[in-house]
Amino acid sequence: MDELKKILQLKKERKAIILAHNYQRSDVQDVADFVGDSFGLSQTAVSSVAETIVFCGVDFMAESAAILNPEKTVLMPELSAQCPMAAMITPASLRLEKKKYPDAAVVCYVNTPASVKAQSDICCTSANAIKVVNVQEEDEILFVPDRNLALYVAKHTDKKIIPWNGYCPTHHLILPGDILLEKEEHPEAEILVHPECRPDVVSLADQVLSTSGMLKYAKQSTSKEFIIGTELGLLHRLNQENPGKLFFPATKYAVCPNMKMNTLASILRALENNEHIIKIPENIRIRAKSALDRMLEVF
Ligand code: 13P
Ligand code: SF4
Repeated sequence: MDELKKILQLKKERKAIILAHNYQRSDVQDVADFVGDSFGLSQTAVSSVAETIVFCGVDFMAESAAILNPEKTVLMPELSAQCPMAAMITPASLRLEKKKYPDAAVVCYVNTPASVKAQSDICCTSANAIKVVNVQEEDEILFVPDRNLALYVAKHTDKKIIPWNGYCPTHHLILPGDILLEKEEHPEAEILVHPECRPDVVSLADQVLSTSGMLKYAKQSTSKEFIIGTELGLLHRLNQENPGKLFFPATKYAVCPNMKMNTLASILRALENNEHIIKIPENIRIRAKSALDRMLEVF
């Protein structure tokens, strides 16, 4: 029996669901039951009745699923698929920063370890960051860890945003010159970029959107051509869902090596061996869950 058939059979036997982020390899996206952005993946992890979730993404995503679903088995096929941005903040460093700004609400991007979520008031994703910030009672917001998302949000709120100095190494490979070059070659194309991009790239965009936001936008837009400023994995669904439209990556270098670690072979191994189980210590999980729940309740 081939890999794909074995995965489908085991998935049934184990009452499992496969969730995949929009940046996963194409064959991993194709075998998944749900493919989406960080927000959609969190929502699906909660609403699913599956007993086992095979999470094809990076560490913080599988952790979020485990935080929200303590009764389900959450499996991460490749443990080394870690997001470098999430590693740019620790609970100890956040504790110190919070002392400097005792009146600020702490809004943390989902790209954080569970231990950092546990110290935050509310989580956000790229799909809802502006809304989350604007509903906080506090006038000051300590926004961690993505400084680019923080600066983008700062442009859309009256609140004082205090950014952390983290960033996504993959989105930092997209340069303003890349966008300008593509625009020169495709003058009719709309420029869609992710808010993790550098501010000088964001300022060139027609639309600044989460990955699923880009998918939704491209579908309903009357434009036929788009320049895409995010990780290349998104091109798979953009092309699949929009025959007749053309998508040009801003640069061929925007590949997240961590997102590409999961393969059909590792998904099969995960299902066969029930590995690697992601469990969050209960004292951290309860506090991290309240930050995620607040986000899910509001949006
Ligand atoms: P979204 O898919 O939520 O826009 O996030 C992008 C990302 O970098 C995930 O690591
Ligand atoms: Fe982390 Fe960037 Fe990769 Fe997303 S694309 S997982 S933020 S390194």
